[in-house]
Amino acid sequence: MISYLPHCRVFRGESLLHLQQMQIPCSTIEKAIFHKIAQAADELQLPTYLIGGFVRDKIIGRNSKDADIVCLGDGIALAHRVAELFVPRPTVAYFKNFGTAQIKLPEFEIEFVGARKESYQPDSRKPRVELGSLEDDQNRRDFTINALAISLNKADYGILIDPFHGLEAIAQKLIKTPLLPEQTFSDDPLRMMRAIRFACQLDFTIIPETLDAIKAQADRIKIISQERITDELNKIMLCNKPSIGWDLLYKTDLLSIIFPQMVDLQGAEYIDGKGHKDNFYHTLQVIDNISEHTDDLWLRWAALLHDIGKPATKQFEEGHGWTFHGHETVGARMVPKIFARLKLPLNEKMKLVQKLVALHLRPISLTNENITDSAIRRLLFEAGDNIEALMMLCSADITSKNKFKVKIYLQNFEMVKQRMKEVEESDQMRNWQPPITGSMIMDYFGLTPGKNVGLIKDAIREAILDGFIPNDYDAAFSFMLQKAAELNIPVPNKP
Ligand code: CTP
Repeated sequence: MISYLPHCRVFRGESLLHLQQMQIPCSTIEKAIFHKIAQAADELQLPTYLIGGFVRDKIIGRNSKDADIVCLGDGIALAHRVAELFVPRPTVAYFKNFGTAQIKLPEFEIEFVGARKESYQPDSRKPRVELGSLEDDQNRRDFTINALAISLNKADYGILIDPFHGLEAIAQKLIKTPLLPEQTFSDDPLRMMRAIRFACQLDFTIIPETLDAIKAQADRIKIISQERITDELNKIMLCNKPSIGWDLLYKTDLLSIIFPQMVDLQGAEYIDGKGHKDNFYHTLQVIDNISEHTDDLWLRWAALLHDIGKPATKQFEEGHGWTFHGHETVGARMVPKIFARLKLPLNEKMKLVQKLVALHLRPISLTNENITDSAIRRLLFEAGDNIEALMMLCSADITSKNKFKVKIYLQNFEMVKQRMKEVEESDQMRNWQPPITGSMIMDYFGLTPGKNVGLIKDAIREAILDGFIPNDYDAAFSFMLQKAAELNIPVPNKP
């Protein structure tokens, strides 16, 4: 938080000071942009304000690359006049039905809208919109921290207008709604997700009254499109500590509606005094752990889903305790369905997540057995270019409360890493392809594509990975002949 905040006055509706300076810190470029908007607004005689996320972020000290402008009148006309003041003149994208317009400058976007009053019907997100005052417009905003406005008018340029004490909420790190939370969330249930996302992103607390209202209205999230919900989930995923958001989603009951498989991970069952860890909170710890090392959204999704197969595979075995045999395979099979339901992309990113879920136990299981060259070679081959990501996931997965156990795991883990380095240096297995390919087999024996070609090809690959034959052409060729003989494939008469 920037240091000037405690000295900044809170203005309530009317401007008290006639400062010519912005009461939020802006770069020289931003100041030049806002001067042009002020000039256009003055020419058109439209009271105009900077509002919403840009003001909030500048006060907090976060970077912001887009600004929302609200004017008392025609926002599209204002956007056109503003565009004329830039050289070269930027295009104005506008939506007559919504009365909004957008200008994209290099590295900065400006959204224009006329101040409005909105009223909603209970079964729809589509508001009935009327022209309104600045106060009406601030009333309809989601949180007090997002309802702060800065005047761009000549008389009180740069003055902060803060009818809901948003500045105070920022200083106290609180998320609360300007109006009754029931109304704010009923008007737009996506705001329940936004409240949680802001709490997670800014490390703010949702006040109890607002949190209770989310709980009470969680069911209304069903009228929101999956794309918008997932957009918020991805923003939570990219926070420093995504666990804050996921835990709030769980505690407000939103999670059971939008992602029930995650809720299935929750809880620890006991039989004969033997329990297992709560896989929900373990998963949250893993996602926080991996987030300390990577900003990659998909590695974070892999962390979130790594144990998703556990509830389906959970068993209590007499004399042994709780087991989750095969949960990595079951979990990997669940990934495409979860991605489809959440409308996440069904492309190579999904395949990466699926692969990491499928392999997430492998490096750790190596520490429990003799770490043979062939086991390491096989892992390097299967993980390919994703080996670093897999190792990152694996080390994030070590969350035991038992410090001794963690120490042993980490020591073994380092040993596996060292062995991988050695095997990789000598064998270069990462993007390895066997020296004899399917088409070489077909060419040599005069075969068409079919089962036997696959059998020979797989046998050569396995023999090399197991260290049964060396990784070179001659050894693979002899082995191919041997395997073909076993399958009664005639050797052609070749010179
Ligand atoms: N807003 C709202 N209700 C919503 C979405 C937005 O009241 N469901 C208002 C808020 O005042 C918000 C502003 O519109 O500050 C701009 O919305 P948006 O750009 O989506 O959010 P930001 O607050 O700018 O934050 P972010 O860019 O991180 O989403």
